[in-house]
Amino acid sequence: MKIALLPGDGIGPEVAAAAREVLAVLAPDVGVEEHLVGGAAILALGTPLPDETLAACRAADAVLLGAVGLPQFDAADLRPEQALIGLRRELDVYANLRPAAGNGIDLLVVRELVGGLYYGARGTRDDGTVFDTLEYHPAQVERIARRAFELARTRSGRLTSVDKANVLETSRMWRRVVEEVAADYADVELDHVLVDAAAMYLVQTPARFDVILTENTFGDILSDEAAGLTGGLGLAASASLGDGRPGLFEPVHGSAPDIAGRGVANPAAMLRSVALLLEHGLGMQEPAHRLERAVEVALRTTHTPDLGGTASTEDFVRAVLAHLT
Ligand code: NAD
Ligand code: IPM
Ligand code: MN
Repeated sequence: MKIALLPGDGIGPEVAAAAREVLAVLAPDVGVEEHLVGGAAILALGTPLPDETLAACRAADAVLLGAVGLPQFDAADLRPEQALIGLRRELDVYANLRPAAGNGIDLLVVRELVGGLYYGARGTRDDGTVFDTLEYHPAQVERIARRAFELARTRSGRLTSVDKANVLETSRMWRRVVEEVAADYADVELDHVLVDAAAMYLVQTPARFDVILTENTFGDILSDEAAGLTGGLGLAASASLGDGRPGLFEPVHGSAPDIAGRGVANPAAMLRSVALLLEHGLGMQEPAHRLERAVEVALRTTHTPDLGGTASTEDFVRAVLAHLT
């Protein structure tokens, strides 16, 4: 089996190196090949998602990505983030699973990943008006809803669909389709919450949630909020799945330019993404669970600066390796 590893920018290569070290011990028979993506690819080849990288991802059993984004490209036409948008669409990994556990919270955000505002028509009209379009086809909503109901079954059996149905046409359709799918899952308890209230409940009474199903933009925001409740972006992992292979696995965080190059990034989010890759991407449950447990134990003793400690990225990796066996 083969993993395409895309380190990317900022702390991406630092946490990618951590992933390599752990994979070499946990899954020595799985091949890992690195490819350019994001700002690194723009600088080397003039495009954020080179054809060679995309072809290697398609040919891999799973894709593992560090992070993309460099401040120097923030206002450019060609941006590192376009790689991520393109890769998700090309691989059709529509179901983005973002678990948030810890600090008394245990929930799963299921974010629709290949539709909505991120993919609608955008541009500038003659009069200077700038627009982005929020569009969904009912089939896009149905497939992500089914995935979320299936996942809710494997957890507490509770599903909350988050939308803005009091304002948006897309949200009213979303709610209707989710209700239709619910008919096939009578064992799952479904409710609907408007996104503004959901943001409030999440900080006030997070235990009211188990699985949160939502569209692309709302899911982007709510998953960072959920990560913040558990201890920050240094801890939050994600799996993006389609109907086959490869899945795309990446930490929720970005390239963290404020701490890049110092060797102090928390690799826990990346290592948990590796655990998700082993489990959901390669079907290797045993090493996945070993890695999850080792990260849990390492987090009790070894704290990088984002968690108030002085440990380096490498210190944390060593702590994880020490608890693997
Ligand atoms: P960010 O996630 O990079 O950083 C937000 C804050 O969290 C920063 O203070 C950072 O230091 C901290 N942080 C993030 N990951 C950490 C880790 N592993 N260990 C310790 N601290 C960590 O978000 P941002 O600053 O809004 O964005 C920076 C760049 O990253 C932008 O170019 C953005 O587009 C990009 N981005 C990329 C991805 C991705 O590649 N998946 C995700 C989010 C943002
Ligand atoms: C994430 C990131 C991306 C997103 C950006 C970098 C395109 O914030 O993975 O959450 O908005 O999806
Ligand atoms: Mn985000």
